This record gives sequence, structure tokens and C-alpha cells, in this order.
Amino acid sequence: MPRALRGRPASQTCNTLAQFNASPAPSQNTTATMERSPPSPTFPPLPRAATPGAGITPALQCKGLRKQYGQRVVLEHLDFCLMPGEYVAIMGESGVGKSTLLNLIAGLDTPDAGQLLVDGVDLAGADDLQATLLRRQKLGFVFQAFHLLPHLTLLQNVALPLVLNGLPAARAMTMLAAVGLAGREHDFPRALSGGELQRVAIARALVHQPRLLLADEPTGNLDPDTAQDILALLRAEIRASGACAIIVTHSRAAASTADRVLVLRRDGLHQEALA
Ligand SMILES: Nc1ncnc2c1ncn2[C@@H]1O[C@H](COP(=O)(O)OP(=O)(O)OP(=O)(O)O)[C@@H](O)[C@H]1O
Ligand SMILES: [Mg+2]
Repeated sequence: MPRALRGRPASQTCNTLAQFNASPAPSQNTTATMERSPPSPTFPPLPRAATPGAGITPALQCKGLRKQYGQRVVLEHLDFCLMPGEYVAIMGESGVGKSTLLNLIAGLDTPDAGQLLVDGVDLAGADDLQATLLRRQKLGFVFQAFHLLPHLTLLQNVALPLVLNGLPAARAMTMLAAVGLAGREHDFPRALSGGELQRVAIARALVHQPRLLLADEPTGNLDPDTAQDILALLRAEIRASGACAIIVTHSRAAASTADRVLVLRRDGLHQEALA
């Protein structure tokens, strides 16, 4: 586990928000912090992602996706395949449909046509409960607008995916510290800057070690150094759990941390050569 993510021992666990609220904060020397790493334009390669056709089920398959709002067709005939362990960046001009695509994958919106399979399971064939459980257990989502719950503290916001999945909540503290917000656990979202809110949203998306991380402009509000630290954290988390990720970004620096860069245009997703 990366140093920044080491937290308190697994024995210090609790299963509900109430228990978690009552539990003592870890002492300073056991709390992980996001340490500034020297700027480094390159990242170590992730373990080789599986390749299609090797008898391995893709983590995600989009087949012929179409979405329109009113008369406006946003996505059409969109095909996309993400193999286990892959970390992909999607770029594209504003309004082209990047957030729409992530929302469809996350099941927050429904396609007008086409198929979406997560781990080989067709979301359209799943009932509401199955789809909710699948989202809750397997997906982590960093929303472009963060969507933190205003009446919950930062710690409660980050602990939410753990509580909903019946998991020990201790990792919430560790993740908050990992994104550089140790000591802010009991603040409410209204007290935070845009970049700090973004980091809380990232901690919440990663805390339950999702199989698929969907991150919509995860570093859009961060300075370059903090953005680099956060991307390094994302990669470390993904590598540690063998998960995969799609990040949507306008930043070439952020995209260059991915294994594969795709550009969404009106006529579909196109592979971009990495510089
Ligand atoms: N719920 C909605 N109702 C109507 N139109 C929508 C809705 N959601 C998105 N759109 C439209 O779909 C298009 C694509 O929006 P989307 O948010 O996916 O773009 P984007 O590529 O994420 O842009 P940005 O880079 O600015 O975030 C836009 O023209 C937007 O106005
Ligand atoms: Mg968007």
C-alpha cells in the first residue's frame, strides 16, 4: 500500500456512521498525509491491462450507445471497451457529451439505444435493486459538480460508500488524510474551497475501492502540484486494487497519466497517440 494511504490498524473499525463519529481520531503520527512529491512528468506503468479477445470479460462495454436530449443528439453509435486494469482518459471539447457518457455508464441516466455491460452484466436487464447494488459496490464516481451532502461533515461524506456497503468506516479517515485534509474531518462542505471540495469528492469515490472509477474532471479545480499528487493517488489506488478508471479531463497533463487517451468527437470516440 502506498505510504500516503497507510492508516490506522484494521482492528480500529466501526460499522455505522454513529459508531464512526464516536471513534477517536487517529493520532498525528498514524495519520497519513498527502505528501508533496517532486514534480515528475512520468508515472510508472500500470500492470498490463487485459486485452480483448483473450477470454477475459471486459470491465465495461458500450455498444451502439445513443443519447439525445429533445432534438439534440449528443451521443450516437458509440462503442467503447474497457479491459480490467485499464486507466483511460477521455478528452473532448466542452458540450460534446463527456459527462453524459459517464452518467450513462454510472446508470445515472439511461441511453435511448444501445447496450451497456459492466463486468459482462447488461445494466438494462438488471432490476432497480440489482442496478443500485452494482453501482454502490462496484462504482466510484467523482462528479464534475462534486455533489457532497451539505448537512454531513467531510468525514461522514467520505464514509458514506462504506456505510452503505456495510464496510468498516475507518478507511474514510485514511482517505481524507491521503487527499491532504487531515484535521478537517468535522468541517462541513460549505467551509471548503473548490479544490478542497474536489479532493473530498475524490476521497469519497475511492474509499470503498471500487472496481471502476469514473472521474469527471477530477483535477479541474486544483493547482498543478496538487493535481499531480491527486493523480498519483488515483493511480496508486487503482493499481493496488486492480481496478480500472475513466477520467474525463481537459488537461493534457492529467490525460498523459493514463494508459490510453481517447477523444470524444461528434462522430464517436477516437484513440489519441500519447506524446
Ligand atoms: N439533462 C440534460 N438536459 C438537456 N440537455 C442536456 C442535459 N445534460 C446534458 N445536456 C446537453 O448535452 C450536451 C453534452 O453535455 P455534457 O455535459 O455531456 O458535455 P461535456 O462534454 O461534459 O462538456 P464540459 O466539458 O463542458 O463539461 C450539452 O449540449 C448539454 O447542454
Ligand atoms: Mg462535463
